[in-house]
Amino acid sequence: MDTVRDLNALRETIAGLRQEGGRIALVPTMGALHAGHVALVEAARDRGAKVVASIFVNPKQFGPNEDLARYPRREMADLKMLADAGCDVAWLPPIEVMYPDGFATNIAVNGVSDLWDGAARPGHFDGVATVVTKLFHQVDPDLALFGEKDFQQLAVIRRMVADLDMDIEIVGVPTQRDDDGLALSSRNIYLDEDERAKAVALPRALGVAARAIAKGETAADVIADASASLTAAGFEIDYVALVDAETLTADPAADRPRRILAAARMGATRLIDNIAIE
Ligand code: PAF
Repeated sequence: MDTVRDLNALRETIAGLRQEGGRIALVPTMGALHAGHVALVEAARDRGAKVVASIFVNPKQFGPNEDLARYPRREMADLKMLADAGCDVAWLPPIEVMYPDGFATNIAVNGVSDLWDGAARPGHFDGVATVVTKLFHQVDPDLALFGEKDFQQLAVIRRMVADLDMDIEIVGVPTQRDDDGLALSSRNIYLDEDERAKAVALPRALGVAARAIAKGETAADVIADASASLTAAGFEIDYVALVDAETLTADPAADRPRRILAAARMGATRLIDNIAIE
């Protein structure tokens, strides 16, 4: 695996990969990699692509009171994990390449960015859309892979790519989970032992709710029950909502693809998760 920190070198390396044939896949990450990221690299390889994974902790997507300073950084372990997963190129852009002095551009994907996590974390999805656009221009991938765990992020990127005629296939990869069902996240390490044990209530509540809605139970009652069970488990809820899986608007028609989204705090740690209505 090539580890690249210079933009010209990246472009040369990718030109070399293109000459070998096949598609180029981008797996954007902020590091602190886990099996969920490995699944993204594997999904790219399964599609026959050469894989470029970026590692960049993007300051623009953190709010002033969020965890930018303490976000886990472990480059050596990340690079080993990417190499073991069969990644071809690790792209580690320096901050001055991503945001040079005078950087003044903001990509805002209105509507879908403003709901749910966007309401709880103002500016977050502008930061994501802006950095992902830069990464797309740097790598020029044929496809890019994102985890479904960040379901709203995936919806924002899909909207942006469609709106701006970016010729990039966006692939959503199912959430990877611990044995008890908790979605893998780089932030799970913030949970202490007691919080980690209680956190399993989140995927359980979503599972129960998704089955009840699929059976035709009233959405408002189901969401109220899920919220009550999360509160009883010790969560402080940001939102639990049944949404349209494309627009993420509430009260979706029953014949549309639907999803339940949730965000809740366990102690100081904010967890998100989601589940499809089958
Ligand atoms: O999902 C993430 O890790 C980040 O939001 C992303 C897509 C790498 C952009 O910084």
